[in-house]
Amino acid sequence: MKILALSGSIRANSYNTALVKTLQKLNSDVEVYEELAELPIFNPDLDIYTLEEDNSPKKVVEFRAKIREADVFVISTPEYAHQISGVLKNALDWLVSSDCIVAKPTVVISASTSAMGGDKAHAQLVALLKVISQNILEDASLIVTCVNKKIDSNGTVVDKDLRKELETLLEKIKR
Ligand SMILES: Cc1cc2nc3c(=O)[nH]c(=O)nc-3n(C[C@H](O)[C@H](O)[C@H](O)COP(=O)(O)O)c2cc1C
Repeated sequence: MKILALSGSIRANSYNTALVKTLQKLNSDVEVYEELAELPIFNPDLDIYTLEEDNSPKKVVEFRAKIREADVFVISTPEYAHQISGVLKNALDWLVSSDCIVAKPTVVISASTSAMGGDKAHAQLVALLKVISQNILEDASLIVTCVNKKIDSNGTVVDKDLRKELETLLEKIKR
């Protein structure tokens, strides 16, 4: 089973990136997509996609191909001003016209330093995904509160409960 995991934060010491990298450590079937910042700014003029061919920018074509090849797509989002990040929204805009995410089982994680865990960005992301995808695995979703107390400065998950939650998430994906 191929699992593609994407962090919606491009910050060097991002907790969301640490989470998707931990999923990869727990399960070698997980590939972490690390080119979010290299996707061009969404422009429908450049979104030259038909079911027969994709003449959109190279990074976009590659991004769509990675999602298409994956059995499951996992997105971990930060929350900025109660919203998902701009870079994540940009990436998702490139998926709207493509069929790559329509039937893809997709898991949403949010992680924030706040006690709410980015719940508003989480809800926003689920709502957005429901527009472009028909297969959100809501049962496997995760909201990580006070994430800075659960992941150390090396990006290691030190909180036992969070580690267990990540293991459970992977088990639910595999069911
Ligand atoms: C400009 C800015 C706005 C933020 N707004 C929110 C917010 O609305 N809700 C929240 O829970 N956390 C908020 N945070 C805290 C982030 O969730 C926190 O910095 C988190 O670690 C970012 O994710 P990352 O570690 O993956 O980069 C904000 C942080 C910044 C820098």
